[in-house]
Amino acid sequence: TDLAKIRNFSIVAHIDHGKSTLADRLIQETGTVETREMKEQLLDSMDIERERGITIKANTVRIDYLADDGEQYVLNLIDTPGHVDFAYEVSRSMRAVEGSLLVVDSSQGVEAQTLANVYHAIEANHEIVPVLNKIDLPASDCDRVAEQIEDVIGIDATGAIQVSAKTGQGIHETLEAIVKELPAPEGNRDAPLKAMLVDSWYDAYLGVIVLVRVIDGVLRKGDRIKMMQNGSVHPVDRIGVFKPEMTMIDELGPGEIGFLTASIKQVRDTRVGDTITHEKKGCAEPLPGFKPAQPVVFCGLFPVDNAEFEDLRDSIEKLALNDASFSYEMETSAALGFGFRCGFLGLLHLEVIRDRIEREYNIELITTAPSVIYHVHMRDGTMLELHNPADMPDLTHVDHIEEPRIKATILVPDEYLGDVLKLCQDRRGIQLDLTYAGSRAMVVYDLPLNEVVFDFYDRLKSVTKGYASFDYQLTGYREDFLVKMTVLVNEDPVDALSTMVHRDRAEQRGRALVEKLKELIPRHMFKIPIQAAIGGRVVARETLSAMRKDVTAKCYGGDVSRKKKLLEKQKAGKKKMRQFGKVEIPQQAFINALKMD
Ligand code: GTP
Repeated sequence: TDLAKIRNFSIVAHIDHGKSTLADRLIQETGTVETREMKEQLLDSMDIERERGITIKANTVRIDYLADDGEQYVLNLIDTPGHVDFAYEVSRSMRAVEGSLLVVDSSQGVEAQTLANVYHAIEANHEIVPVLNKIDLPASDCDRVAEQIEDVIGIDATGAIQVSAKTGQGIHETLEAIVKELPAPEGNRDAPLKAMLVDSWYDAYLGVIVLVRVIDGVLRKGDRIKMMQNGSVHPVDRIGVFKPEMTMIDELGPGEIGFLTASIKQVRDTRVGDTITHEKKGCAEPLPGFKPAQPVVFCGLFPVDNAEFEDLRDSIEKLALNDASFSYEMETSAALGFGFRCGFLGLLHLEVIRDRIEREYNIELITTAPSVIYHVHMRDGTMLELHNPADMPDLTHVDHIEEPRIKATILVPDEYLGDVLKLCQDRRGIQLDLTYAGSRAMVVYDLPLNEVVFDFYDRLKSVTKGYASFDYQLTGYREDFLVKMTVLVNEDPVDALSTMVHRDRAEQRGRALVEKLKELIPRHMFKIPIQAAIGGRVVARETLSAMRKDVTAKCYGGDVSRKKKLLEKQKAGKKKMRQFGKVEIPQQAFINALKMD
């Protein structure tokens, strides 16, 4: 295709502002898909994505558009994930295109993820076209939101397109703006092949599918390509584009976006951001800025039923083949037996993987407290990356501990500001900035990541009745007074409940934790002490009193079937329990105990 007739773009938006609906409309309007084949939210392919309405993996579609100027254009849309966990994928896929549609819900206004994502677009030097969506809603206020875009983001919004992705209004104008306002790509057909690996995933029929953007040169079927990151060479057996169904073609030239397959065995061998070139006469320099996505949140995954350990291994290995940013290694816990210590890009990533294991592989899991990576500086000058509080070395050898910090941006209506400030303060936050955009406050906090990974987002949603939006980026490591807190149930330490806490908060956290556990652990025939301890010193204690009677005792009169039912019910309940010494702890207790009210 002629470079001048190509437009490559992405859509940036806050969750729920209508990115997927708009993309579907653009596809529908251009007749790329027959209306009757149109499934709602065409671009979100995974079930979980559809259920939760979140876009996780980047997707792409090629749209053929006959513009008002009478010319035929090729529009390539790369759909980027909207969630902070996938920020690295967002920033890479942005570098594969020249422009963005900035979609803002005109009944809501700019939100934290609007900001985070538009900054990625600005960094990637994009031309940005503002789109005000949901103008069919009575609460829509385009003037106010356009002004807000100018004030908060600092881009001109006078020409913002007014759209209803629901009714189709403004869709034609959007297509014309893509053609007229976004720049055509640049590239040299005669230069050595240089292509960016934008995304990759595993397909049961075709193996690993690699999404590429060609910068220079031409990629053809039968070529031998080299991944510049590890030097591996693969013969290309298919080249195609998504329309959105896979359509095979013979070559991709400069400026084009499409996919290739090359009998690559594992997604792990295809790193997002890598440069692809030819084995012979390849390009000299890779594209700048490659860094593999690193897991930042770790937790243990254990089967509720020990007999399912091998099944769990199997499921984790299969999921990891398709997700290079997910790491795992075997872990043994005195309390939970065999399981895996897994690393994720963030909490949503953790939840998605855990859900898939439970759902697709039917394995019930115990998830231990999520932890971040601490830098433990030893007296001998070495540094240990601590992924699991259970591995905390003896304190006599430790010089100091550093923890990861983030810069969090929160947008919230004025009336909830006080609650948000209090929440951030409670989580050891340091306020960096506080500004207003209309009736909304924008607060920026420096926070320890460990105070955020667990339930911060849930708490924020609940104190602001869902009106706050939140986004963050990692900023670095800082020393603080951190200690490991151990939980003892019936005098036995339960390693899976160990957490790292700030020394000043230890008593408070310990007390909250043992109180919660007291509610979550069912009574037994004997008294159970529940304690939180720091380095052998108990900082909080509760006692769960003994149960007085057998549950079946209330089935007087010898109603055998009722008694049997009750026992069966008890047995089913037991399946979700784990035995610790003489005590049974329900599966849910491991997660719920750590949630703070
Ligand atoms: P993520 O995929 O989660 O990032 O969300 P998204 O930005 O893709 O939003 P999505 O397209 O899923 O739309 C969110 C909700 O808004 C859905 O319920 C849509 O039906 C609705 N919606 C989208 N566009 C419009 C619109 O123009 N008008 C109205 N009234 N509703 C819309």
